[in-house]
Amino acid sequence: MSADDKYLFHQTPREIAKQLIDYVPVEKGDVLCEPFRGEGAFWDVLPDTGGEHVWAEIRAGRDWTGIDYEQVDTVVSNPPFKIRRHNGTEVTAFWTAIDRFTDYDGAKKHICLLGNDFSLCTLTPRRLRVLADRNWYVQRLVACDVEKWRGTHFFIILGRTDTGLYTPLPKNETV
Ligand SMILES: C[S@@+](CC[C@H](N)C(=O)[O-])C[C@H]1O[C@@H](n2cnc3c(N)ncnc32)[C@H](O)[C@@H]1O
Repeated sequence: MSADDKYLFHQTPREIAKQLIDYVPVEKGDVLCEPFRGEGAFWDVLPDTGGEHVWAEIRAGRDWTGIDYEQVDTVVSNPPFKIRRHNGTEVTAFWTAIDRFTDYDGAKKHICLLGNDFSLCTLTPRRLRVLADRNWYVQRLVACDVEKWRGTHFFIILGRTDTGLYTPLPKNETV
């Protein structure tokens, strides 16, 4: 598979993005963000809230770290598996991105990310507790199958109220 075939393979099918976008909670005036825009499957169907839509895409010369997340209400994306840090090392993108979006100067309302079973499992009990300390919780998991990809994928919606959907045991649970 060439680099371009690989890039296209990982783009979200537009039909899937069109269906998943209906699960994104939005309010009038919300600023929406697609930090890994790619070919625009989610970007092109972001609802018109009247608020700004902001994006990044490394291939278009905009790194996701360049976005001012403090001005963003809701993030919607299918992130890459790995992202490169400034020092050149590669890290798993899913948690790295969620950690950034939920930081004190991160997004305000919701984070909606498409990932696979591995992405979901990066939300370990310890990390779920970190998120809860920041008042962020997994509120909804939408399961979907994408023919070209392996296994079930999950549209994971994080928000500011605990629906009890996906909860870690308290500390010291390891036996
Ligand atoms: C799995 S693809 C998904 C693209 C799009 N979000 C979608 O749902 O179809 C991930 C995208 O992230 C982009 N990307 C990788 N590293 C990035 C970075 N550091 N900043 C911004 N975009 C990046 C890739 O070029 C690729 O287009």
